[in-house]
Amino acid sequence: MASFLLLLELGVTYFVCRAIYRLYFHPLAKVPGPKLAALTTWYCAYYDIIEGGQYVWKIKELHDQYGPVVRTMPDVVHVNDPAFIDKLYTQSPQQVRERPWTVLNMFTTHLSMLPTRDHYLHRRRRALISKFFSQANVRKLVPVVNDTLEDLHRRFEGWAKEGKPVVMRVPWQAATKDVIAAYAFGGGVKCLQMEDCNQPFFQLLNQERASKVPVHFYWVMQAMIKIPPSIMNKLNPAIPHFERFLGDLGKIIESIRNDKETPERSTIFHDILRSDVAESEKATPRMVDEAMVLAIAGSDTTALTMVAICYEILTQPKIFKRLRAELDSVMPDATQPPDPVKLDNSPYLNALIEEALRFYPSASHRQDRVAPNEDLVYEYTDGRTLTLPKGSIIGMTAPLVNRHPSLCDDPDTFDPDRYIQDPKLMHRHLTFNKGARQCLGMNLAYQELQTFTAGVWRKYAPYDPSKKVQGGPTMELYETTKEDVAMWSDFVTPSPKPGSPGVRVIVRLE
Ligand code: HEM
Repeated sequence: MASFLLLLELGVTYFVCRAIYRLYFHPLAKVPGPKLAALTTWYCAYYDIIEGGQYVWKIKELHDQYGPVVRTMPDVVHVNDPAFIDKLYTQSPQQVRERPWTVLNMFTTHLSMLPTRDHYLHRRRRALISKFFSQANVRKLVPVVNDTLEDLHRRFEGWAKEGKPVVMRVPWQAATKDVIAAYAFGGGVKCLQMEDCNQPFFQLLNQERASKVPVHFYWVMQAMIKIPPSIMNKLNPAIPHFERFLGDLGKIIESIRNDKETPERSTIFHDILRSDVAESEKATPRMVDEAMVLAIAGSDTTALTMVAICYEILTQPKIFKRLRAELDSVMPDATQPPDPVKLDNSPYLNALIEEALRFYPSASHRQDRVAPNEDLVYEYTDGRTLTLPKGSIIGMTAPLVNRHPSLCDDPDTFDPDRYIQDPKLMHRHLTFNKGARQCLGMNLAYQELQTFTAGVWRKYAPYDPSKKVQGGPTMELYETTKEDVAMWSDFVTPSPKPGSPGVRVIVRLE
C-alpha cells in the first residue's frame, strides 16, 4: 500500500511538473491558444477520434478567437495565413523542413519517401522518382490517360443502360488508380474493368476515424500488425485485405526485378530497379512501401477533385455553358481524345480545375513541418512578431487557408471566373502543399483532371428536365445535396456528412 501511494505521489508530481512546464516554460508557452490544448494532446485526440475528424473546425474556431497563430497541441502550432506559406514550406533546398510525428505516425513503416523524416534522405528518395512526374514525362503518359478515358466512357455507357445511380467517387477512384498503376508497374488488372471497380480496395483506404488513431496512439497500429490474420479478420476485415494488397505489390516488384526484358514503355519501378542506387534503397520492402504510397496518394485525391468538378457543373448551368463552349472549340470532334496542348491553353477549363482544387482540397490534413535549424518568425499585420523556435511543429491546413479572405475575394463562393479576371490568383492555394515536400504527382493530377473533365463534359451535358428531347448524353444529380460534396470531417482526405453516400448521378445516353 505504501509503495502504491509513493507511486501515486510520484505520478501526480510528474504530471503537475509537466503541466507547469507546458504552460509556463515550454518554448511555445507564449503562443496563444486554449490552456487545455497546451496541456495535453488529448484535447486534439478528442476532436480527431471521438468527434471524428473535427479538429480542423475546432482549429478554425480557435483562430477566430486567438488570431492567426494558435497552439493546438503541447508541441504543435497551427498558422492560418497565406502569407506564411512561403516561409513554412520554403522552396529553398538549403532550409531543412521535416515531417514530424503528427504526420509520420500515420505510416506503419518509414521506408517510402513520404514518411522519411530526414531531410537529406528524403531528397535522395524523392530524386529517384521525381523525374517521372516532370511535365515532360507526364506528357508521355497521355496515351494511358486517354485509354482510361475510353474505359470511363464504356463504364458510363454501361451504367446508363442499367439506369441505376452511380456513386461518382467510384469511377474516378478506379480511373486514377488505373493510370498510376500503369505508370508505376505497366498495368495489371484494371479497376475500370472490374465489375465493382475494385471498391473493396478503396473502402479499406476510407477507414475514416481509424486514420486518426495512429496519430495519437502509434502503438495501436504497431500492435495490430502483429495480431494473427485469423483474429484480425474478425476485429477489422480491412486489415488482412490491406496485407494482401501489400503482398500483391511485393510479387509485382519481384517480377519486375526478375524481368529480363525492358518493356516498350518504361515504368517507374523498371527504371528504379535497374538504376545504380544502393541495393538497400531498391530492397523489396522499401519498393513496396513506395508503390503503396503512389497508389494511395495518386488515386482518391484526384478522384475527389473530379467528383467536386462534376457536382459544380451539374448544379451551376452557367459553368457548364462556358466550359462546353470552350471544349467545342478545342475538341471539335467529340469522338477524338483531347489534345493536351490545347487543354493547357483552355482558360476556362483550367480556371474550373483551379477553383475545384482551392474550394474542395482533397488532402484535408494538417500539413505539419519542423524546421530543426531555424526559428520561424510570424509577423502580425499590426507589426508585432511571434518567434516560433526551431524544432517546433508548425502546420497549416488547406481547407482553412484556401478560404482565407486574403487569398481571394469572396473565398466561400465557388467561382472559376475569378482566375479569368485575375490570373495572378492561380496556384496560390495550399492544396498540393509547397516546397521540397510538395505533392510529387501534381503534374499528373492536372493532366488527369484536364483530360477527364474535357473528355466527359465534351460528351455529356447536364440533364434538362424542361426538355422532352435532350439531344445527347446527359448526367443528372441523384438525391444529392451540398452536404454530399462539402467536407464535414478531415480523415486525411475529406469526408462528407456521416451517412452520406456521396455525390450520385443518373447517366442517360439520350
Ligand atoms: C488532386 C490531387 C492531389 C492532391 C490534392 C495531393 C495533395 C498532396 C499533398 C497536400 C501532399 C503533401 C502532404 C504533406 O506534406 O503532409 C502530397 C504529397 C505527395 N503526393 Fe499528392 N496529391 C494529389 C495527387 C497526387 C498524385 C496523382 C500522385 C502520384 C502518384 C501523388 C503523389 C504524392 C506523393 C508521392 C507525395 C509525397 C511527396 C514527398 O514526400 O516528397 N499525389 N500530395
